[in-house]
Amino acid sequence: MKYEYLTNDLIEKIDSYLNKFPYKEQAIIPSLHEILEKYRDIPYKSLEELSDYLQIPLSHIEGIASFYDMFRYKKNARHHIRICRNLPCHLANYQSLLDKIKELTGADIGKNSPDGRWYIELVECIGSCAIAPAFLIDNDLYDGSSLDEEELKKILEKYK
Ligand code: FES
Repeated sequence: MKYEYLTNDLIEKIDSYLNKFPYKEQAIIPSLHEILEKYRDIPYKSLEELSDYLQIPLSHIEGIASFYDMFRYKKNARHHIRICRNLPCHLANYQSLLDKIKELTGADIGKNSPDGRWYIELVECIGSCAIAPAFLIDNDLYDGSSLDEEELKKILEKYK
């Protein structure tokens, strides 16, 4: 198969959008929805593949994917850390959690770690205020309230 993420079933759906709309650019958003539904995330490589398939510049597709919050994508890193910064998490000192995570991963907000393993993003409430400061690694939810550095290290080590 030519693509890793654009599997045949996805390509069929993308084709149906291409047939439906007069301009191929109009197929971008529904295609991103399909990718999100299938993978529960938008892997960066899927953007490259979509760009290749639609023959639309990657920068254009990236622009759309990063404009809409719902299309957050991993920016090419293997793991995506999302730390909540809304009020309850703010009061629970998400900043100190963020500082520790930055130090341990070498990544920064909006920037991959040099080894390409981590990408950090600050997000709005993830519906887990009871365990503030809450954070997600990929789709796994963590309680940051009582984590010491050793425990945090152990969690991070699970993600290669
Ligand atoms: S405010 Fe952080 S999870 Fe709700």
